[in-house]
Amino acid sequence: MSEVTAIAHPNFALIKYWGKTDFVNNIPAMSSISLTIDTLTSTTKISQQPEMQENIWELNGERQPDLGQLLPTLDYLSKVGKVNEPCLIQSDNNFPTAAGLASSASGVASIVVAYNSLFDLGLTNQQMAKAAMLGSGSAPRSLFPGLVLLDIENQCDCHTLAEPNQWPLSVIVCITDDQRKTISSREGMEISRKTSPLYKAWLKVNASHIKQAKNAINERNLRALGQIAEENCKQMHEVMRTSNPSINYMTNKTINCINAIETIRSSGVDLFHTVDAGPQVKIICKTEDSGLIQKRISSLPSVRQTLVANIGYGARVVNEG
Ligand code: DP6
Repeated sequence: MSEVTAIAHPNFALIKYWGKTDFVNNIPAMSSISLTIDTLTSTTKISQQPEMQENIWELNGERQPDLGQLLPTLDYLSKVGKVNEPCLIQSDNNFPTAAGLASSASGVASIVVAYNSLFDLGLTNQQMAKAAMLGSGSAPRSLFPGLVLLDIENQCDCHTLAEPNQWPLSVIVCITDDQRKTISSREGMEISRKTSPLYKAWLKVNASHIKQAKNAINERNLRALGQIAEENCKQMHEVMRTSNPSINYMTNKTINCINAIETIRSSGVDLFHTVDAGPQVKIICKTEDSGLIQKRISSLPSVRQTLVANIGYGARVVNEG
């Protein structure tokens, strides 16, 4: 086999990771729960290039100056697999890159899966998750389908809590701005860890938020899941805001969009929202309500575009040759 193509989808955190215990090994300081979606896709083709001196990474058709955050992942994979062959890694996203839509998570997950297959490494789930985490702390979650737990209390074990067919949910991504973010999650997290007076409390509350979210998922209780997810999101953005320098990924358009979503909820529609390290808002709702919500949200001046996705599958190989 000389090339493999794999795809992976973004995942959006409902109980969020913001802060690391180990910057070098990129280990999150807290557990997280996410939802892997479909429709938005990172596609990575990896091909063996014996004539090349080193790995080369192209993102959306552009050669990158270096391997950036992929380097630790590729170093780990080549070490575990005893692989010494240079590759060309070509990744494409069918959605805006680095605008708070988890493009690094899906990108890294697709690379890990393609590399594992190309070199027939036979990695365990635990090893795949470790490789992905070295690239991005949220990337292990894109390896898995549905609602996913990344459990820091249990050696960073990552697994599905509910499969896509066990709870048909939809996500409406409200794009308010598609510019690249000014401060990366990586930098922002370190600033918060070092300076936010709320950081310690944020670490402490994680276990309780994880427990409540797991219960809500077990009971398939969207309202309960939404309450804890919104509380968790609010606390993360407070940690960011109280950092020095203060970090704020939400814009006026983000706030307008959230207000409109809350008005829709007051009219009796079961939904909740979440915002990550960017100005976009994600609405989680029952699949049967997604059309109606999308229609109402798309007419807002603060929303440039909406994308609707369902709960999706984990990273997988799509082509070998
Ligand atoms: C706000 O996983 O992008 O989306 O590990 O430094 O690559 P690195 O950070 P990243 O951070 C995700 C932050 C978040 C919350 C989450 O997805 O849990």
